[in-house]
Amino acid sequence: MHQCCINPSILSADFVNLESELARIASADAVHVDVMDNHFVPNLTIGLPVVERIQAVSRLPLDVHLMIQDPDRWAPGYAEAGAASVTFHVEASAAPVKLARDLRDRGAKAGMALRPATAVEPYLDLLPEMDMLLIMTVEPGFGGQSFLDVTLPKIRRAADAVAGSGLPVAIQVDGGVTEETIHRAAAAGATVFVAGSAVYGAEDPDAAITSLRNAAQK
Ligand code: DX5
Ligand code: ZN
Repeated sequence: MHQCCINPSILSADFVNLESELARIASADAVHVDVMDNHFVPNLTIGLPVVERIQAVSRLPLDVHLMIQDPDRWAPGYAEAGAASVTFHVEASAAPVKLARDLRDRGAKAGMALRPATAVEPYLDLLPEMDMLLIMTVEPGFGGQSFLDVTLPKIRRAADAVAGSGLPVAIQVDGGVTEETIHRAAAAGATVFVAGSAVYGAEDPDAAITSLRNAAQK
């Protein structure tokens, strides 16, 4: 197992004070930014103008998670804004390989995300075009939901496929990641962990990041 990253989600932060909220997660590896359009998911968050401002003030790299329809059209703008990685949902993309190339051409890492009920097998052939595979561990749309253990076999199959291919593809999990659940995801092969409420719901978000790192390695 080679754990890497704890990427707190600012979905659970105070949106009126984003700059100071970022300062509370200085020990994170990246900041996870959830973009929702109220079409792909039944919730609405922020779009490109706000993400551009976060990029301007953040010391951490931006890990942008697009829960939107037509990412083929909108995702490249987030790469142009300077995001370190841009992850789109395969369920919403008409041309995921072209889109991943568009993202990489603009200097971002390309990630593809799968909802809990989306099988990974049809997408394994695309891994050479990707830098990250995001396996959702809750239905996308809201923070604070419970981790879905039914996704664990898929995480393991994806991690095995990545290991077998020798490709440098990170396996990210997002949703319901807590001190209690993170170990199960890590044991299944996840390497990047998104946590919203477990970090921002804590009194000391930086201490929560350390606890998550330790729990992942147990
Ligand atoms: C949910 C978002 C997540 C969310 C996770 O659709 O993609 O990034 O912020 O929140 P928690 O960690 O509270 O489940
Ligand atoms: Zn997310």
